[in-house]
Amino acid sequence: MNTKLMPTVLITGATSGFGLATAKKFAQHGYPLIITGRRKERLQKLSDQLSPITDVFFYQLDVRDSEAIKTFTQAIPDNFKQVSILVNNAGLALGTESADKASLDDWHTMIDTNVTGLVNVTHSLLPILRKQASASIINLASIAANWSYPGSHVYGASKAFVAQFSRNLRSDFAGTGVRVTSLEPGLSESEFSLVRFKGDKEKYQQIYNNADALQPEDIANIIFWIAEQPAHININSIEVMPTSQAWDNFKIIKHP
Ligand SMILES: NC(=O)c1ccc[n+]([C@@H]2O[C@H](COP(=O)([O-])OP(=O)(O)OC[C@H]3O[C@@H](n4cnc5c(N)ncnc54)[C@H](OP(=O)(O)O)[C@@H]3O)[C@@H](O)[C@H]2O)c1
Repeated sequence: MNTKLMPTVLITGATSGFGLATAKKFAQHGYPLIITGRRKERLQKLSDQLSPITDVFFYQLDVRDSEAIKTFTQAIPDNFKQVSILVNNAGLALGTESADKASLDDWHTMIDTNVTGLVNVTHSLLPILRKQASASIINLASIAANWSYPGSHVYGASKAFVAQFSRNLRSDFAGTGVRVTSLEPGLSESEFSLVRFKGDKEKYQQIYNNADALQPEDIANIIFWIAEQPAHININSIEVMPTSQAWDNFKIIKHP
């Protein structure tokens, strides 16, 4: 295996769903990987699985903890230090109640993870990314960044932050080697809805039953394609849905 010439890929939230599938995809193509997430045993398992085909460094990390991220950045071994692809994937939605019934704690957790966490990681990695001849930041936003639906309130707003942050980073780094993409998926089958419904398997299954949702591997393929574009091409944003999904009609609530 010749990993010397391959850029290192850093993935947040690699223990499940998109992050896990993305780790496998890049590993299949020989990219050295840094995989992070809170569930250490899953990181260990994935590392054991992928180590025969590429170099893997795993690190237990909660993206909400800015001090831990600084420690992590310093702990990256020398042979993984050339991080050229950052997949800012860690994120979550909590609850589907209307705003007046939603939990304030859930709102804070979504903001802390999807906004503050993504900002923490990006800020910490930028000095490394800026040193590379070519680098990519691929941020997981959502269709919820662009379109409203009932119960999306803070989740959608946090993803709108991700999409706009991505555009603003583009402005800062235009003409440098750093590329930035906002990836905005629709309905995708992963543990995302299990987390959103707080472990309610029935509600989780109802969402995906016969929905022909996107699969984590579909998103991993798109992330890989974005990263593999020639250095002079920046994919600004991609909104992707399963063919079974479309935008809702504008609703009209009539008086009785
Ligand atoms: N599935 C969808 O329909 C969908 C659609 C659009 C966008 N997205 C976005 O895509 C991203 C990945 O979602 P997914 O569908 O793959 O969901 P998932 O299967 O639930 O995976 C989420 C990942 O994020 C990690 N994570 C959550 N909180 C974290 C924290 N505080 N620190 C570090 N890692 C954390 C989880 O790892 P640990 O629990 O081990 O920390 C897990 O690996 C998210 O940003 C999500 O908002 C999902």
